Formats: sequence, C-alpha cells, structure tokens
Amino acid sequence: GDGPQRSSKRADFVVVANRLPVDLEKLEDGTERWKHSPGGLVTALEPFLRARRGAWVGWPGVADVDVEPFDDDEMQLYPVRLSADEFAEYYEGFSNATLWPLYHDVVVPPVFDRSWWHAYQRVNRRFAEAAAEVSAEGATVWVQDYQLQLVPAMLRELRPDLRIGFFLHIPFPPVELFMQLPWRTEIVRGLLGADLVGFHRPGGAQNFLWLARRLAGFEPSRGQVGVRNRPGVVQVGDRTVRVGAFPISIASTELDRLARSKDVQQRVKKLRADLGNPRKIMLGVDRLDYTKGIDVRLHAMHELLAEGHIKAEDVTMIQVATPSRERVEHYKQMRDGIEREVGRINGLFGRVGHPAVHYLHTSVDKKDLVALYAAADVMVVTPVRDGMNLVCKEYVACRYDLGGALVLSEFAGAAAELTSAFLVNPHNLDGVKDALLAALEIDEAEGRRRMRALRRQVLTHDVDRWARSFLEALGAPLVE
Ligand code: ADP
Ligand code: G6P
Repeated sequence: GDGPQRSSKRADFVVVANRLPVDLEKLEDGTERWKHSPGGLVTALEPFLRARRGAWVGWPGVADVDVEPFDDDEMQLYPVRLSADEFAEYYEGFSNATLWPLYHDVVVPPVFDRSWWHAYQRVNRRFAEAAAEVSAEGATVWVQDYQLQLVPAMLRELRPDLRIGFFLHIPFPPVELFMQLPWRTEIVRGLLGADLVGFHRPGGAQNFLWLARRLAGFEPSRGQVGVRNRPGVVQVGDRTVRVGAFPISIASTELDRLARSKDVQQRVKKLRADLGNPRKIMLGVDRLDYTKGIDVRLHAMHELLAEGHIKAEDVTMIQVATPSRERVEHYKQMRDGIEREVGRINGLFGRVGHPAVHYLHTSVDKKDLVALYAAADVMVVTPVRDGMNLVCKEYVACRYDLGGALVLSEFAGAAAELTSAFLVNPHNLDGVKDALLAALEIDEAEGRRRMRALRRQVLTHDVDRWARSFLEALGAPLVE
C-alpha cells in the first residue's frame, strides 16, 4: 500500500491476538520499520484475515510505544500499548513463564507469581476494551491464544451483542496439571465467555469440558468431541457454549506454488553447492524454544556420528532457530545448552570448511525457507510437546517432487494427521536415532509413497478450511 493510513472504521470481523501480524523494529540509528511477526499463529491467521479485510487488535511487539491505528493493505491494525513492566509481568512472566510451561506438560517448572497474575488481568482488560471499541454492532470477534484467556468473558460483559470465538494455539493440558494453577477457576470462567472455545485436538476440548464442571459447576454434554464436528456443549445460564477441536494448518497451495518457482529452485541449487553438495541434508527449523526438542536432535546426531553410523562428509545438518523470548530464564539456559552442543559436535566431527552442523540463530525469509525445505532430505521435527507444529506441514507442502522424509514427534498435534511420517518419541533417544537412520536411508519408492500420503493430508486440509470450520461452528456469517 501507500504506507500506514489512519483508520477509524468499525469492523464486522475482528481478530484479537497478543501480537499484531507485524512487529515494530527500532533500529540502532533511531529509525523504525515493520517486519513480519514470529510464530505459527501469525503464519496461519494472516493470509485469512487479509482475504477477509478484517481488523486485528494486538501489541506491536515493543514496550512503551504508542502507535495509532493504521491500515495494512486490506487489513486494519489496532495497536495495544504495553508498558515495560507489563511486558515483563504479563508477557514474559504470566504468559511465558507460567502458562506456556504449564500448558506444555510442565516441561520446565511454571512460576506462580501473584503480581504477574494481576498484570495478566489488567492487560486482558485492555485488550477487551480495545476489541469492544473496534467492533461494529453484532460483529464476530475471534480471540486468540493463551495470552488472552480472560478476554472472552470481559468482552461479553462490555458488548453482549457480539459473537465471540476463542481458539487456543497451544496444547490444553491434562486436568491434573491445569489444577495446579492458583487462578484456574478465573481462567475457565474467562474462556466460557465465548460462544465457541476451540482447541487443536479433541483431548484438549474434553479436558476443558471436565474442568468447566469441576471448577465452574456447569454441566457439560457427555458425547465424545470429534474433529471439526460433534462439539461439546456447556450450558452457562441462558447461553450455550460450544467446545470443539479444529486442527490448524497452513496456506498449503501457496507454498506448493512457491516451491515450484524458478527462483526457489535456483536457491536450492546454490544452497547445495554452498554446502559442498553433501549426500544428505538434515534440517531443523524452529523458534528457539525449549519445547521444540532441538537438543534431542543434536544429541541423536552426535551419537550417530560418534558411533560411525553416519559421516560428517556425507550428512550435513542445518538448524535455523528464530530468537524468541530471550530474557526469560529457561530460554537463556536452553540457548546456551544448544550452542555448546553445536560447538562440541563441530569440534569433534567437523573439518575446515565443512562443519557437521550449520547453526543459524536468526529467522530466514520465506523464499530461503522454502528453498531449505526443498533441499532437505530429512526434516527433523522433535518437540517434546507442541500444540500443532506448522513447520512439518510446510515441509510437506513444499515437496511436490515427492522427495524427502519427515521425522516427527508423536507429541506434536500434527502427528495425529501426518501418520505417514517417521513418528518418534523424543524421550527415547535410540528410537530417534533409528528413525533418523531409516529416513536417511529410505528407498525412493517408499519415500514417495509416504510423501504422497502426507501431501494428500496437508493439501486438502489447509488453513482456509480450518478457519471456515471454526467460523461455521461459531455460526458466523462466511462473507468472502
Ligand atoms: P511456533 O508457533 O511454536 O513457533 P509452528 O511450527 O507452529 O511453531 O510455527 C512456526 C512458524 O514460524 C512457521 O510458519 C515457520 O515457518 C516459522 N519459522 C520458524 N522458525 C523460523 C526461522 N528460523 N526462520 C523463518 N521462519 C521460521
Ligand atoms: C506460538 C504462540 C503464539 C506466539 C508465537 C510466537 O505460536 O502460540 O501466540 O505469538 O508462538 O511467540 P511470541 O512470544 O514471540 O509472540
């Protein structure tokens, strides 16, 4: 477009998420620019929202800045301000050092801090107020993710005329773990403010239904929740709240098209040449997060090299890791651990000009990312817990050539759909090593058979289908 434009329209379709789809970046020389925000939520929702011309309420990614609402092409963006203290307490604290580890099976111990909780309430209220202001009469508002679980009830109180959906992008934990949370009842009541509460997996929906009775005293329906159908139901006074499972996805056709482009194919050639045309390339692509099991794949690689199952001159590993939540203690520790291990592996097995592991602590642009996927013989996705994981779906979407093999953790939501991958338990190192070897050595026909099955799933279940199935269950009008 022509750059930011002042925006003041009220919208019929509003997304509310902690982050805007773009991140304000303050450069050293004092200038500012907008860049693409990190993470799967934005990857999934942005193409859909652009097509629908909706409004997006979110934080611009830096503390203590005031940004006026503006239009980005067809999308209206409404920035919500966070102070430096709120950034520390609501975002780094309650969202990412309490809820994130708790919901990911307490993979690190969650911290329960009352002042963080107060900041979480305060900031959720601010998001609810912003959404109330932006929404037209009778609008559909779609609240996203664990940072904003109190917004549905707060918003309903301000604007009973709205249709409110909520979707959780991360796993919803087993009830025994959720019950640890000192503010568990408030969170359940916050979510029950929505007309539809969505999770990736039926198990998450089922857990939530159980908690709605246990903590809020509302009687839920009894049947098993299905995928995209048969939602559970909770009667909350005179309102009916639906609770369902909607596995998220990617814009698969667009990635498939990009992978076929001349430009990307040239990048693939150059990439292989830059690496010295190794026999096999293994690839990891993640936000640098302790849930992603980056350490798992490095340990597996280390042992395979040490035991002589693979040689560094044959097999090269590339790990690109987007910086994430860098001031949070467990993220710092994990980064140090990973970087030490990369150094160890390269010290032991690398040669001048040929490291065994290429490690990049950065995000890469879309075409380079697609070229990496297209070049990778083995894609390694080994989270210890992941709500869905879009990276594995992106890899599959890029392999129109039916080449490559996917090693995927059973603990990613995507494992329920991508059953033709080499599924592994990331806690079982021998199992991970066996799967990596099998994927490296797979014969061509078997590889193509598996990739064809994976692609059938990913290409027929794209993000547009996800969004439509959610909005349909919400009873929202599906305008083009
Ligand atoms: P999460 O949302 O936890 O980060 P997902 O796998 O669901 O995990 O989504 C990650 C998104 O971020 C994907 O769209 C992926 O392409 C993108 N991404 C992850 N790492 C990188 C990277 N190093 N460079 C560019 N994009 C990345
Ligand atoms: C995951 C979460 C998102 C979050 C993203 C990036 O995908 O589900 O809500 O936006 O990670 O993390 P960040 O903390 O940088 O927003």
